[in-house]
Amino acid sequence: MNDGIKTYLRLLRYASHYWLMFTFGALAMLIFAITDTGFAFLIKTLTDSFAGTENSKSIDQIKGYLPLIVIFIFFIRGLSGFFSTYNIAWIGRQVIKSLRAEIYNKFLYLPTIFLDRKSNAELLSKVTFNIEQVAESTSNIITILIRDTLTIIVLTIYMVYLSPTLAKIMFMAAPIIALLVWSLSKLFRRYSERIQDSMGDVAHAIKETLQNHRIIKIFNGQDFENEKFSVINENNRKHNTKLLSTKAIGDALTIFIASLGVAGVVFVATTDEVRSNMSVGDFSGFITAMVLLMTPLKRLTNVNAMIQKGVAAASSIFILIDENNEKDKGQQEAGILKGSIEYRDITFSYNPEYEPTLKNINLCINSGETVAIVGKSGSGKTTLVNLLPRFYDVSSGFLAIDDQSIEEYSLSSLRANISVVTQEVTLFNDTIINNIAYGNYSSEEIDKAINAAHLNEFIEKLPNGLDTKVGDQGVLLSGGQRQRIAIARALLKNTPILILDEATSSLDSESEKYIQEALENLMMNRTTLVIAHRLSTIEKADRICVLSEGQIKEIGTHNELIRNNSEYALLHKLQFNEKV
Ligand SMILES: Nc1ncnc2c1ncn2[C@@H]1O[C@H](COP(=O)(O)OP(=O)(O)OP(=O)(O)O)[C@@H](O)[C@H]1O
Ligand SMILES: [Mg+2]
Repeated sequence: MNDGIKTYLRLLRYASHYWLMFTFGALAMLIFAITDTGFAFLIKTLTDSFAGTENSKSIDQIKGYLPLIVIFIFFIRGLSGFFSTYNIAWIGRQVIKSLRAEIYNKFLYLPTIFLDRKSNAELLSKVTFNIEQVAESTSNIITILIRDTLTIIVLTIYMVYLSPTLAKIMFMAAPIIALLVWSLSKLFRRYSERIQDSMGDVAHAIKETLQNHRIIKIFNGQDFENEKFSVINENNRKHNTKLLSTKAIGDALTIFIASLGVAGVVFVATTDEVRSNMSVGDFSGFITAMVLLMTPLKRLTNVNAMIQKGVAAASSIFILIDENNEKDKGQQEAGILKGSIEYRDITFSYNPEYEPTLKNINLCINSGETVAIVGKSGSGKTTLVNLLPRFYDVSSGFLAIDDQSIEEYSLSSLRANISVVTQEVTLFNDTIINNIAYGNYSSEEIDKAINAAHLNEFIEKLPNGLDTKVGDQGVLLSGGQRQRIAIARALLKNTPILILDEATSSLDSESEKYIQEALENLMMNRTTLVIAHRLSTIEKADRICVLSEGQIKEIGTHNELIRNNSEYALLHKLQFNEKV
């Protein structure tokens, strides 16, 4: 089946839950279509009455009611027009609500590696722009497709009734119009796809500029950014204009082809044979119906552009919805783990085409042990710890907690056992308290965590205290304050396994000393992985593991490594300004 049709059917499946609303809408459309024909009938009747033809006798009887009939027809037309538009738009909004919820939920469960690679703004543009396109086109399409098709059908029946010969000529134009509509649809689809992509580009550019405004300012990059944006902006305009002009050409051609049909009708209507078979009223009724036909006909040919726009948007949304979630095949609920960790022959690549980031990692950590990981920037430290909560899955090897492969635990129960203070702290644009207590905790527990993370002094000074908003990603706070919030968050979660990735790197020496004490207390009865460039913070670790280019170079206690004059000893000497 054609991809476009498949996408459209899938979209309709979402709408099919609301069949009752649809039935009423469709009924309203039918009434709407009949009122149009009723209008043509009215014209025919009036003309006959003026012309004093045979039919005029019957008209004499209803003459007084005619104004009322006009009002009635238009009242019914307005009412049915309302319900046909409202009901279908209502269904459209319901469909969009479901789709949007589905995508949002998808974002919560997509693998980290997928989200790393995609531009956030591009994804955002799908939930906002593309989805609105689907909404607009689905409801418009259904309304137009059904209401206008019905109108055309009822008008046609009436025209055939008035004069089959004329109707035949009029509809000789139909196949040509159909051919035109069909041949334009590919263009519509192509331009719509490009517009949607270019909206993603626009969103991406704007988001990046807003995020990096300090860098742009310090480099005086305004002109450069402006130029970059104008290309993207122009691209968007170009595709939109192309779509518009294609639509306008389509409109003009449709009406022109239809006018050929009208010309044919006018030509044939003047022949004696037709004239003798039709009253003046019949003829004017026919012409009225023909004129009334033009608008729905034009809209119907335009609907194609809408269908293509909707299909392009919907297929990009369905591609996203069909992405695989994080693998979560583990059957076992982890419960509260003891926290022993084993990395066995672990190899990991972010991208299979490149050199692996981690190679043959073998590392056993006992429950309750604190292991520090040191190594040059880019050596793979963060990657190594990110494998534990399964932000990324190992490419090969065996990674176990409590002697069981971590893939056998359900993701949520595994993650419930691990706290992480990430290298880059990001916060929600919410209050401090909501950022710390990301879950259900008692106020006592929260107070304890705030104290341990040395946040109280800072919070007391804030006019709104714990209810102070931290701004987008926490920009209203200093780097150290953010880090302390992240530490409090991890302390509060209170799990058997703790990962501290440069957790105290932004703190001044005094706060670091205090927090270090709090963290040391915390590390006591849990398994901890500490990553730190500042070696002073890890001297007390049970063991230190030195990573270099994705491989473990050495492992041992601080004293052992210093004694062996190893790579760690060298780093240590450099940092403490000892003679190398
Ligand atoms: N999400 C990612 N996608 C692809 N490659 C990545 C990703 N994150 C890190 N890398 C690459 O993996 C390698 C190891 O990165 P990692 O973040 O583990 O280093 P690190 O030892 O923590 O460094 P630092 O001390 O600077 O934090 C780097 O070469 C980096 O370019
Ligand atoms: Mg790192």
